[in-house]
Amino acid sequence: MKWGQRCLSRFHVLFTLGLVFTLTTTTLAMKKDDFKTCAQSGFCRRNRAYADMVTETGDSFQSPYTLITDSVRTEKSHIYADVKNTESDILLTLDVYVLQDNTARVRVNEKQPIKPRYDGHGKHTLQAEPVLQEELDKDDVKTSPEGVVTIIMNDDKTRKIVIHPNPLRLEFLVNDSPVISFNNRGIFNFEHLRTKESHKPKMIQHDKDSESTEEKEAPWESGSWEESFKTWTDPKPNGPESIAMDITFHDFGHVYGIPEHASSLSLKETRGGDNAYTDPYRLYNTDVFEYAVDSPTSLYGAVPFMVAHRVGQSAGVFWMNPSETWVDIVKSKSEEKSSVQKVLSFGKKSNDKTSTHTHWISEAGVLDVFVFFGPTTKDVIRQYTKLTGTPMLPQQFSLGYHQCRWNYINQKDVLDVDNQFDEHDMPYDVIWLDIEYTDDRKYFTWENNKFPEPIKMEQVLDSKGRKLVVIIDPHIKRADNYRICEEAKKDGLFVKQPNGNDYEAWCWPGQSSWVDFYNPEAREWWKEQFTFNKFIGTQENVHVWNDMNEPSVFNGPEITMQKEMIHHGNWEHRVLHNLYSLLSFQSTSDGVRERTVVEHRPFVLTRGFYAGAQRYGAVWTGDNMADWEALYYSNPMSLTNGMGGIVFTGADVPGFFNNPTSELLVRWYQAAVYQPFFRGHAHIDTKRREPYLVPEPYRSMTLAALRERYALLPYWYTLFYDASQVGTPMMRPMFMEFPDDESLFATEDQFMLGSGIMVKPVTVEGATSTEVYFAGDEPWYDTLTHAIVKLTGRHDVNAPLGKIPAYYRGGNIIPRRERVRRSSHSMKLDPFTLVIALDTQGYAEGTLYVDDGETYDYGTGAYIHTKFNYSNGALTCENIHADPNSKAAKQYAKDMKALRIERIHILGVSKKPNGIQAESNDVKENLVFEYDTAHAKISIKDPKTSIAECGWTIAVA
Ligand code: GLC
Repeated sequence: MKWGQRCLSRFHVLFTLGLVFTLTTTTLAMKKDDFKTCAQSGFCRRNRAYADMVTETGDSFQSPYTLITDSVRTEKSHIYADVKNTESDILLTLDVYVLQDNTARVRVNEKQPIKPRYDGHGKHTLQAEPVLQEELDKDDVKTSPEGVVTIIMNDDKTRKIVIHPNPLRLEFLVNDSPVISFNNRGIFNFEHLRTKESHKPKMIQHDKDSESTEEKEAPWESGSWEESFKTWTDPKPNGPESIAMDITFHDFGHVYGIPEHASSLSLKETRGGDNAYTDPYRLYNTDVFEYAVDSPTSLYGAVPFMVAHRVGQSAGVFWMNPSETWVDIVKSKSEEKSSVQKVLSFGKKSNDKTSTHTHWISEAGVLDVFVFFGPTTKDVIRQYTKLTGTPMLPQQFSLGYHQCRWNYINQKDVLDVDNQFDEHDMPYDVIWLDIEYTDDRKYFTWENNKFPEPIKMEQVLDSKGRKLVVIIDPHIKRADNYRICEEAKKDGLFVKQPNGNDYEAWCWPGQSSWVDFYNPEAREWWKEQFTFNKFIGTQENVHVWNDMNEPSVFNGPEITMQKEMIHHGNWEHRVLHNLYSLLSFQSTSDGVRERTVVEHRPFVLTRGFYAGAQRYGAVWTGDNMADWEALYYSNPMSLTNGMGGIVFTGADVPGFFNNPTSELLVRWYQAAVYQPFFRGHAHIDTKRREPYLVPEPYRSMTLAALRERYALLPYWYTLFYDASQVGTPMMRPMFMEFPDDESLFATEDQFMLGSGIMVKPVTVEGATSTEVYFAGDEPWYDTLTHAIVKLTGRHDVNAPLGKIPAYYRGGNIIPRRERVRRSSHSMKLDPFTLVIALDTQGYAEGTLYVDDGETYDYGTGAYIHTKFNYSNGALTCENIHADPNSKAAKQYAKDMKALRIERIHILGVSKKPNGIQAESNDVKENLVFEYDTAHAKISIKDPKTSIAECGWTIAVA
């Protein structure tokens, strides 16, 4: 379909009286053929074919890229050289940067392109310019007589980069063994910019008849200049411009990351092998309706960051490119390496290990890749988030439960739902409004008949410490007398067609245009729209939801924007597609933050995302199904998002489409207690299913789950704080905490919350028991009963419907708040309960982070950060504030002096103590306690200890 023709794949028109008419010209199930396969995407097809040709040619193949050895120069920690494609004679530039913290960057660009290639992504994706390592010594960069350049990265000489000249190959070594290499399979391919006239397609030999052969254009070359998909034609004015590189992770059997896909945690192979996919993993933000699970199909977000892990070493690669990208994955046993690989491989090769070979293929831009040496997975993620930004520390309320639905129909409905939660004693923090709150889907307006007094409604919520989140999408209805549309039109803030007119297509409001978030002026203008005098009807307890920002275009190819559309700076949409989501999210988040004189942390949820999105808020996994499979996949999907830095993530509970059974609902709420973003949401066609509506006994079970979430908020908030410092996700794959246990490397159906809690969500209908793998040597403790579990390895445990199999890990101290109230706000000054889960040595430790939960005052030191230690029968506390003597730290500790511990449970104490004493400032006091012989547990009541001031000891005699 040519641009401008209208074909509604789905379009809902809602009329004011609450009647819903759904106009659908296609079926409502995900249509696989709405989205391209690699074979239908010209540049993916070409690069896969190139890879096949290389493999088939075998040993006689030689990659045409050669380093021009006398061009090598070193400036500080930056090595650069020219590279020649000996087939085309095109020159490329190679830049290798040695960065701080075990990180390297490799860039390849055309030396003299006929016009600039897109290279503007870094300043949006990276939080700050990467910092070069201190100047390398002369001896750190050496060139051998054969032209091999060796760069020693660190003082102890354990990390090196080796650049082999002919053919070009880069190896990243630890202790002289290659960990990662580029182009060791020889399928690096950099399509230079060219004119149509100068284009020479690849020719192949073709059997003319049984006797003779002729040369003809390789079939995969079709579509280099104009490409069709279904009824659309992409005019591709720049012709072929892709870049592709093979990246091998040596002796790594598992790779993770590259969200977002509804796939496994440990990524699958994509070109042969057991249980393999047939297409590469795709990274191209799209609105996939009723998406299928167990698929490499791209979804709403894209983070081209991959982590590899094996015993003793993790490593990672960030392929910084926001254009459409595909990643093929194949694995090989070391002894099965092709002879090409054997010839090309460098250094010691180990025995029977599996290696993972990846092939990254992007449609446009330049090659810009970061390599992280770890050595642990947490280090790799820290190194990655140092570049792309650590996750934002969210407002505390956003860790509570969110209640959404498409749609709460009017003001009364909102307040009724709010009341029902109170009547059922169910805690919740946020109620949400979907698109129908607006006047005719014009964002930043209200449907006045249904919401005549939004401020009044918000005030009622505010009186209970609750918030409202409203949806704002990036498509703007083309309508007269609609200020937003008129201003954007007048100031040229919409994405343009190649002819210079505003781009127009269909989305929820009908005919719409899309804000060009790539335009700095548009971003500034967008931010202003969130001020209270522009977004009339909102006040401080209103936050924002960004949806459809892939961007979703109902009548566009693959339900998104045509690639030839034009952004600010005359860049085609093609070159920055995935960045669009990030920039719309960023502008909204900045707008919400800047709308008050004293800035408050914004809460914004986005559906589309790209690397760096963790800086701006939360992400959810889109329109999932209310079924058991989707519940299962909510775990690996959230884990994978977390590995990609997107730590504040979760799925619609209990599934967006269709009506869940009560059992599924309970199981989903139970799982979501331990998933970072916890929001109930439902499609407009579903029955109401707010948790208080489920019949008993399910209601009490759901309530118990919600209460457990609220009890764990201090632990959650502390984990979010840690994430905001070093990037470690709160929800962690098992292998991240047990990196030496190979049997956990593919485990995705149980996970860790921080280092202290293990969770096994039940995702099977009718299950009353489930298998849990008890890792490590330390005991585990049932979080509900506190019973000690001295098991190791795989065991069946009881998991009747009311039970969430979750365990404290011996050696950890978990802070909780047991006085669950109506919202997190009302719990803010409540005392804490500490659960001390002892390890076999009678030791445990844990931290607690507390601040005002709203502002940025913690940035100046207004927070409490305390470490609790239990050893030799004594609990002590240590102030681990980064600057404890700062004025703000002292003032905050003073203000919070009354914040105390009201109860301590010590788990794993085999005999009843003679007594327990609190000692502070030389004053000793006997404490009241109970001992539970059956559970080997001490419970201390009111230990009279502040969390704001340390210097006390609680001694168990
Ligand atoms: C999209 C969103 C969904 C929302 C709906 C209406 O499908 O993913 O959450 O309810 O649009 O706005």
